Amino acid sequence: MGIPAVVNGRDVEFDGSADMPLLWALRDLLGMTGTKFGCGIGQCGACTVLIDGRPVRSCMVPIGEIDGAVTTIEGISATEEGRRIQKAWLSLEVVQCGYCQCGQIMAASALLARNPNPDDRAIDIAMSGNICRCCTYVRIREAIKEA
Ligand code: FES
Ligand code: FES
Repeated sequence: MGIPAVVNGRDVEFDGSADMPLLWALRDLLGMTGTKFGCGIGQCGACTVLIDGRPVRSCMVPIGEIDGAVTTIEGISATEEGRRIQKAWLSLEVVQCGYCQCGQIMAASALLARNPNPDDRAIDIAMSGNICRCCTYVRIREAIKEA
């Protein structure tokens, strides 16, 4: 029997060992490849997903320790707020190579859920764990404000 979880509002069972990182389980077991592997050691934020609305590094969360409902980039458009974020990202053409952006959007989503009008400082603090090697930080900040 697999390990039960809720992903994007759907009941799933992960057919893997309890110590498998959630990132691997999402990508390899569920085929949901929107969440990216960057560093694998909790340092870059590329793998950010939400668990009960909290941004977490999915490379660092074993599937045996998931303690809430998981939301991934594939589920972001289910909410009005998520759609606003996507629209702002598109209208400001935030993305360069794109590799970090799913994680950035998930972190932004968690920020806006708890603070709908963040100032620069609040944005910088909330987004500081999400690295962008293309340095899109200025556009990310503007898109968060627009959203
Ligand atoms: Fe998880 Fe970098 S891949 S933090
Ligand atoms: Fe290239 Fe962020 S857009 S790493």
